[in-house]
Amino acid sequence: MVPLGLLARLEGQAGSAVPQEDWVRRARTQIPAATESIYFQTGGIGPSSRRAIETVVDRLEYQNRGPADPRYSADMAPIEPDLRSYLASTFGVSPNGVALTHSTSEGISIAAWSQNWASGDEVVISNQEHPANVIPWYVLRDRFGIVIREINLDAGTSLLDEVRSVLSSRTRMVSLSHVSRNNGRSIRAAESAELADLLRTRGIVYHLDGAQGPGCVAMDFAELGCDAYSTCGHKWLLGPKGTGAFFVREDALDRLQLSWAGSHSHATMDYEGSYTLLPSAARYEFGTRALADFAGFHTAVSWMEELGFDRVLTRIQDLVSHAVDAVDARSDLTVTSPRAEADRSGVFVLRLPSPCDATEVYNRLAEGPRILSSPVRRERDLRLAIHFFNTEDEIDAALEGIASLC
Ligand SMILES: Cc1ncc(COP(=O)(O)O)c(C=O)c1O
Repeated sequence: MVPLGLLARLEGQAGSAVPQEDWVRRARTQIPAATESIYFQTGGIGPSSRRAIETVVDRLEYQNRGPADPRYSADMAPIEPDLRSYLASTFGVSPNGVALTHSTSEGISIAAWSQNWASGDEVVISNQEHPANVIPWYVLRDRFGIVIREINLDAGTSLLDEVRSVLSSRTRMVSLSHVSRNNGRSIRAAESAELADLLRTRGIVYHLDGAQGPGCVAMDFAELGCDAYSTCGHKWLLGPKGTGAFFVREDALDRLQLSWAGSHSHATMDYEGSYTLLPSAARYEFGTRALADFAGFHTAVSWMEELGFDRVLTRIQDLVSHAVDAVDARSDLTVTSPRAEADRSGVFVLRLPSPCDATEVYNRLAEGPRILSSPVRRERDLRLAIHFFNTEDEIDAALEGIASLC
């Protein structure tokens, strides 16, 4: 049980804990969810700022004055090209390398279905993946007989050694989390670039699942060296739900073939059987699109940029340092996410004492003191997704709450 005193304190203070820095205090007032609860669930679904919410509402209202009326549709038309260019310049992608999606999972599926898989072909994933980077491979296994090789990316293992140990002449793709939702491990840019070189010489497609990447850790697509990267707007970038992006190296566009296509994937077509695809990653998009949401995605990233990505990432690391120290000072909890700053992220994971159940703790923290955390793959592991708007007080309150329930 959470002690009554603690409950009362948390109930009274949810959202009113005073962060040390002014820019954080101001930003918190702009994020409704940050003051409704103690929000450590950005790794599940991120809260949006008022500015992003207002952009979506405004553009939706505007569009619906006449969705097909050129007076309005002409103003809506630049939303997607502007956002593609903006994401490209912000995250080190070439101007033609961005497709706008609705989720990370959509990008992962674009990558997974981009090959003409044959029975016995192999894909490499890890033991730290989200179901979004597992299920597509199960489906491809069952449909085409591909083989899934799993490497161990627990904190402390060597990414390069692990991948090398499973590569074979049948390996066609490596698909890993940039930042694991299960143990918070972040693949370092330098080791990713080295892996990319190794895989390129063997003609193996290298894809990263970046659901927990941008906004949580430093992310530069060119530096990572991968062929493709799937991410979303609705976690650490604090964008509207149902927004995402798929980044592709331009020289990989033709190797990552379309499985789904439709109107707008093409540059030219006729009804006699001819077509050409767009010469950019926008070829992976098709159909009518949620323009107001994409406008909100643009606003969300601009807001983060205004706050300063460096400042945001430094604060996340500082808060995680605080969390590590606070857990180390206790005898009942242990840290399972990586400790080295270069390997860690805002995804902070704790091991609960036996026989404490992480799902039960998660439910009781959410229902009682409104502390939002998340159980992850290992039974006794509990995740606190620590973003810049969180505070040391909130971390301390969460640890106290967790320990009292165990
Ligand atoms: C590592 C990872 N990949 C993929 C996903 C799925 O993301 P989306 O909902 O954007 O498809 C998640 C969601 O938590 C995740 O943590």
